[in-house]
Amino acid sequence: MSETPSALFRYNNQEFSLPIRQGSEAEQAIDISQLREKTGLITFDDGFGNTGSCQSAITYIEGEKGILRYRGYPIEQLAEHSNFVETAYLVIYGELPTQEQRSQFSALLTENAAIHERMVYLFESYPRDAHPMALLGAMVNALACYYPHLATNNHDRDIINFDDAAATLISKVRTITAMAYRMSRGLPVIYPKRGLKYCENFLHMMFSEPYDMYECPDVVARALNLILLLHADHEQNCSTATVRMVASSGANLFASAAAGICALWGPLHGGANQAVIEMLQAIHAEGDDGSRFIAAAKDGKRRLMGFGHRVYKNYDPRAKIIGKACDDLLREMGINDPLLDIARLLEQTALRDSYFVERKLYPNVDFYSGIIMRAIGIPLNMFTVMFAIGRMPGWVANWREVATVGKPKIYRPRQIYVGSQVRDYVPMEKR
Ligand code: CMC
Repeated sequence: MSETPSALFRYNNQEFSLPIRQGSEAEQAIDISQLREKTGLITFDDGFGNTGSCQSAITYIEGEKGILRYRGYPIEQLAEHSNFVETAYLVIYGELPTQEQRSQFSALLTENAAIHERMVYLFESYPRDAHPMALLGAMVNALACYYPHLATNNHDRDIINFDDAAATLISKVRTITAMAYRMSRGLPVIYPKRGLKYCENFLHMMFSEPYDMYECPDVVARALNLILLLHADHEQNCSTATVRMVASSGANLFASAAAGICALWGPLHGGANQAVIEMLQAIHAEGDDGSRFIAAAKDGKRRLMGFGHRVYKNYDPRAKIIGKACDDLLREMGINDPLLDIARLLEQTALRDSYFVERKLYPNVDFYSGIIMRAIGIPLNMFTVMFAIGRMPGWVANWREVATVGKPKIYRPRQIYVGSQVRDYVPMEKR
């Protein structure tokens, strides 16, 4: 980020100059880090919609144009030519891997696929119907108990073991997920199998039986790779900003990622993929073709889940790719899902309706991803977990940036206090 001419700020008959910072894609920001010192003022930006909280070299988004790039590579090219593991390497380490780097990374993922046997007892102590996101957050945080050498809470030390910690997290998260699924259904746990690729191994742990190995159709492995790849990073969204926030205190990678999982769970963020399917099911059950729901959304009574985005004021490029993949997958698998018909109708109606057009509300990544996951056989309450598996490389890369780039600075926003002014303690008998 280079420094260019400054902005002039006038307050109380005094003028102050504030530096303008410019990023590598020419986006500009006023650097207000000295503002309070110079003027006594802080900035106020509810929801951080206009706040750049860090410098990052991982992901570039241009919301007005619907552009998304990981490390400079357009998402469309990665979706067409890459897969999840290669993209994870790119996001974390900054470059596409050579053949040798790719093999080493895959080998590390394979080596780290199994979880500590004692962690199995942890699963058993949770209720059978525990939400998988609650379990995932707990288990990822617990990794620090079982692999303490990877989680010292000293960034200098943790970064020495970073490759192992990153591979541990990215690999075990799918084992944990599959194990949670099996246990919630009283099914025998299936262990990871050497020789299977990342997505195939996950589906094997989910759907194989001790007496019957799951045969993964190519089309399913491709669809899952695509879903995970498209979720791999998305710059400073709610969960990634949370990961950086936690990491900024010096916390280890597992703790930071567990915090990211919790932030992702909410329906306005990663929980939206589950909410979209619930919405489509409700519309279907009510015999609505979507038009009544659209009317209710315009009245503010309902929210069209899977629509709208804080940054994209144009088509979310991921939604375009997933929408097409959804058609292809269902066709190839011979599935006729009435929810897809409703989704298509909602999309067409909303894109023509002035309420959505004026507010620049377009389908986002979550609008069609759930229909793909349903077709693959992933249960509804695990959709957000799949988002978390996909987002793991982004969280890892952001944790690494916090731990390695620049002088460590704890994240600590200020606030505008609007509570009571000072008052004296009132004894119990006088209240
Ligand atoms: N349905 C109906 N109206 C909407 C929607 C929607 N999905 N999204 C925004 N609006 C309206 C909103 O009511 C407001 O209208 P008005 O100006 O009349 O008050 C206007 O559009 C601006 O909305 P906002 O809530 O101020 O926008 P935001 O940037 O704070 O919120 C959002 C972004 C994604 C939380 C929101 O669009 C939303 O709730 N969408 C549905 C949930 C969803 O799909 N989330 C997944 C996001 S993508 C994956 C991820 O990164 O997590």
